[in-house]
Amino acid sequence: MSEMESVNKIRELRDAFGSFMTGVTVVTTCKDDGTPLGFTANSFASVSLDPALLLVSIAKTSSNYDNFAHASHFAINILAEEQKDVSNTFARPSDDRFANFVWSKSENQNPLIDGVSAWFDCTTYQIVDAGDHAILIGKVENFASAGFAGLGYYRGAYFTPAKSSTDVISSMKVMMMALIGHENQILLEQNSEQKWTLPHLVVDKDGAEKALEKIFAAYQPEASPSFIYSVYDDVTTQQQYIAFLCNTPVSTAHKGQFVDLNDLEKLTFVDSALQSMLMRYRKENYLKTYGVYYGNQTNGTVRQIVKEEV
Ligand SMILES: Cc1cc2nc3c(=O)[nH]c(=O)nc-3n(C[C@H](O)[C@H](O)[C@H](O)COP(=O)(O)O)c2cc1C
Repeated sequence: MSEMESVNKIRELRDAFGSFMTGVTVVTTCKDDGTPLGFTANSFASVSLDPALLLVSIAKTSSNYDNFAHASHFAINILAEEQKDVSNTFARPSDDRFANFVWSKSENQNPLIDGVSAWFDCTTYQIVDAGDHAILIGKVENFASAGFAGLGYYRGAYFTPAKSSTDVISSMKVMMMALIGHENQILLEQNSEQKWTLPHLVVDKDGAEKALEKIFAAYQPEASPSFIYSVYDDVTTQQQYIAFLCNTPVSTAHKGQFVDLNDLEKLTFVDSALQSMLMRYRKENYLKTYGVYYGNQTNGTVRQIVKEEV
């Protein structure tokens, strides 16, 4: 193999290794004179529970290699999602990588960085020579886990799984609607354009159940939820709607008004999706056999809820 071919092969191998998703750690120790040392590593792995062992590998080219290969102790700091800057700092040359971070020394004289997802304070158990790296095997003497979501690393880039999923959820507006029925009536209200709509509220960080509770408190405190009646996305407004079928023992309301289901044709609704949902409700309420709708504002399927014979 030519030198060029072997360089390419190594790059391909590194890329292939990089397809394994990992977290990111900072491995730390202290020199005898108390100087803290550390480097970023994603080669961390847990090894054994009894005794408690872990490993991380360090490149022989690292300027820290001699110090870590001869250290009697080291710590693993598992970085939290917000700690990309810590990872970058400990992967780049610097006179003092610790200068901009809050940290403290562990019982085994290892630097522990504040705000990490977890840390493991170790004594060195074994050093295994392994090609262009050495494997540092540590015996866990102390550890703590804060429960923060960990920073991820995949194909040469960071990722933040927990943050990404909450971003997706918060970018998708969910509207909770309550179909509060009483016998042959349904609670509706008119908006500022005189169009009819169901009691509704945008679901905020408190969640769907709280949104429903707030609707009941505002419109009809004696109402209680039965089951989800309709879930649909409006692809034009990028909004998701969840309609809950709810019952109430009374036909009075703090807000809005109960309307006879036979009068639906006389009303103008905010949109056709709501109108067809209420038409379905009228039919099903008459038969007392309900279905659940899944789909978007124009197309979807209704799955019948099987009535249980008691
Ligand atoms: C996400 C990430 C993971 C890394 N993993 C390792 C590793 O497992 N072992 C290692 O020796 N270097 C690893 N490095 C590289 C070292 O952090 C970096 O080369 C080193 O800190 C360079 O400085 P030094 O020569 O002063 O040690 C990684 C770097 C990054 C950004």
